[in-house]
Amino acid sequence: MLVFAKIKSVQQKIKSLKKGTSIGFVPTMGALHEGHLSLIKQAKKENDIVVVSIFVNPTQFNKQEDLINYPKTIDVDLSLLKSVFCDIVFTPTAQEIYRNNITSKSFNFDGLEHQMEGKFRDGHFDGVGTIVKRLFEIVTPHKAYFGEKDFQQLQIIKKMVVKNQIPVKIIGCEIFREKDGLAMSSRNSRLTKEHRKVAPLIYKILQKVKTEFGTKNALDILDLVENEFKNQPLLELEYFEIANEDTLQPIKNIEPKQKYRAFIAVFAGKIRLIDNISL
Ligand code: PAF
Repeated sequence: MLVFAKIKSVQQKIKSLKKGTSIGFVPTMGALHEGHLSLIKQAKKENDIVVVSIFVNPTQFNKQEDLINYPKTIDVDLSLLKSVFCDIVFTPTAQEIYRNNITSKSFNFDGLEHQMEGKFRDGHFDGVGTIVKRLFEIVTPHKAYFGEKDFQQLQIIKKMVVKNQIPVKIIGCEIFREKDGLAMSSRNSRLTKEHRKVAPLIYKILQKVKTEFGTKNALDILDLVENEFKNQPLLELEYFEIANEDTLQPIKNIEPKQKYRAFIAVFAGKIRLIDNISL
């Protein structure tokens, strides 16, 4: 496994690959868990080589505190990557990526960016668009893998690739869950014991929503979700929304042939958790 911190070195290595070598890419912010490893395993199956980036991207954090507290576990990450036979790891610094201008570019994702997360995390998707586009330019992957836990991010990246005619296939991968249903996330390691114990309720509620969808209307389902959280004071609901999978527009009526998903964001103490389920 080769590890590069410099853009020039990783680019040189990629340019030196035999013509026709297919490159699978998994961008990450480190603090790797089984969910990331499953993306890498899938990328290994579908490509000749796999590149993983580890970069905690400052421009996608709207709270400085979150950026500072984001878990950083580079040594463990590197040994996990070795264990799944990752070929190349790219670990740039913020200086390497942004030089002296740590700001994002402004994107138009046809409104996808204004829904759900966009209402609560100002500038977040501009930050994501900026870094993912830059990483695609550096790594030039044929396929790139993203988890469906960040479903809105996945749709936004698909949109960015089409709008900017970037020749990469975006692959969305199913959410990886702990045994008790909690969606895997690097943030889970920061939960207190008490919050970790109650956090699986988020997925239990989403499953209930899936059962009720089609029999109850969207407002009644929202009521149901709000009541569940009222009974669990350790979890604070930030938003719950049922939206069209492609447009991310909130549901009005169930239209035939359209796919819907329920999305949720919850605070467990200071830690913000998101999850979603296809309906
Ligand atoms: O999902 C993430 O970990 C990040 O948003 C990504 C895609 C690596 C960009 O920094």
